[in-house]
Amino acid sequence: MPEIAYVDGEFMELSEARVSVEDRGFQFGDGVYEVVRCYRGTPFALEEHLGRLERSAAGIELPLPEDARRLGELAVEALHRSGISESVLYMQVTRGWAPRNHAFPETVKPTLVITVRPAKPAPPDRTVLGVPVITVPDERWLRCDIKSTDLLPNVIAKEKARRAGALEAIMIRDGAYVTEGASTNVFAVKDGTIHTAPEGPRILSGITRSIVLRLAREKGMSIVEDFFTPGFLAGADEVFITSTTLEVVPCVKVDGRPVGDGKPGPVARALASAYSAEVARRIGQPPQAEVRGLMPHG
Ligand code: PDD
Repeated sequence: MPEIAYVDGEFMELSEARVSVEDRGFQFGDGVYEVVRCYRGTPFALEEHLGRLERSAAGIELPLPEDARRLGELAVEALHRSGISESVLYMQVTRGWAPRNHAFPETVKPTLVITVRPAKPAPPDRTVLGVPVITVPDERWLRCDIKSTDLLPNVIAKEKARRAGALEAIMIRDGAYVTEGASTNVFAVKDGTIHTAPEGPRILSGITRSIVLRLAREKGMSIVEDFFTPGFLAGADEVFITSTTLEVVPCVKVDGRPVGDGKPGPVARALASAYSAEVARRIGQPPQAEVRGLMPHG
């Protein structure tokens, strides 16, 4: 089953795919992207991701080379060509190729790249055991709502986490409040209420975040969308993170100190299984627990 790439109008094997060394994505990080999880060959929440891609592109005045409907068709074709069942679909649009100059080129021919690769199977006991996370300063720009390919602060934060043996770096803005993870949204539970940073320029409006909040509301859980302090995070009963690729992951240690009783809590566990059920419902397959062992699941 080949890993597939689409570059500017052509499908090819990923290993064959090339863009110019003068592509502005390569030189300036001048582009936007989306990551979509595909289950059983079907992209999950593709419409939401394409909507966010349009908003990100508009946010940097980048004309998309195709409309959302056509991008969706190309994504589905890439998936079919790859034949990979459990995959991660990556879509990136940059401000194209031009001789290096910071200001936008006069005529822009955006570069569109789509890739399909197998999803990395998650350790099956991750939801049961939870993961350690660390905190780091949030050193990003103030348009974190734009899903830009310019990810250097996120990359450095994630590397710090990796070196600390943690799965994620939770970012603290100005030493004062928690924004999100290097590639996830962050939630803290205190006395049964779920707290998470509000949508706006300081976080990415996660697709998983909004689905999980909807599921929590449907379960009658109470939610506060407001910033909380690092002290609040340290004293939370539960902490969990969400993303397209990680889904819902309970965090059991922050900076080496246990969260609550040091085990995944009931809210994170309930939302992790509600999310799996939601994926199953939309994709049309039995819930994850029932198929575990029969198919790899990232
Ligand atoms: N990251 N916050 C940041 C900074 C992110 O990069 C991501 C996603 C999220 C979660 O968003 P969503 O639920 O829509 O995936 C939050 C993707 C997965 C990535 O860069 O690989």
